[in-house]
Amino acid sequence: RFDIVIAVDGPAASGKGTIARALAAHFGLPHMDTGSLYRAVGLAVLRAGGDPADAPLAAGCARALDLSLLDDPALRESATARAASVVSAHPDVRAALLDRQRAFARQPGGAVLDGRDIGTVIAPDADIKIFVTANLDVRARRRQAETPERDLALVRANLAERDARDSGRDAAPLRQAEDAILLDTSEMDRETAIARAFALAEARL
Ligand code: C5P
Repeated sequence: RFDIVIAVDGPAASGKGTIARALAAHFGLPHMDTGSLYRAVGLAVLRAGGDPADAPLAAGCARALDLSLLDDPALRESATARAASVVSAHPDVRAALLDRQRAFARQPGGAVLDGRDIGTVIAPDADIKIFVTANLDVRARRRQAETPERDLALVRANLAERDARDSGRDAAPLRQAEDAILLDTSEMDRETAIARAFALAEARL
């Protein structure tokens, strides 16, 4: 078969988005950043003046997902990231976003998706699964470099809080699928990490 489905999972600021985009370009596949869906739901809740912990409100925002929020500059703010990680723990929110992600993964030709549960829940039969990780200090420095926030300790604490929530929840927690290849980018620069991901992917095809 000629469809190639690639699942890229990992914690925040691990480099999974960069690697997923590079794999998509390399194999000529469409790419979906699934974290942006949860961010859009989190942002919708904040804009409605609600609390991301309010499960019925968050599920309503997920079912009526406002796609224009995917292009909103506030999507990348740390308050939105935090709201995303809170709303993403509600099973009804995850259920509302499931079909959109599965349909993307099943399109003819294949696709690359990155997130937390692509290899475990969204596309358990993906051809290639890569679990991208890096230690917390490295991820905090990377995230600090791409945001206006100057306080490294605060960036680090926010990442640690989000990691704990994403890994500790009952609904589709962040974890490496049994058949995923681990790619630890702690000691790698961007080019090296991408080259390693290409080599891992090609070896599996
Ligand atoms: O990847 P990103 O940091 O943009 O994701 C934002 C939040 O969305 C994550 O902290 C996580 O809680 C949630 N998420 C998820 N499942 C995914 C992708 C993201 O729960 N597949």
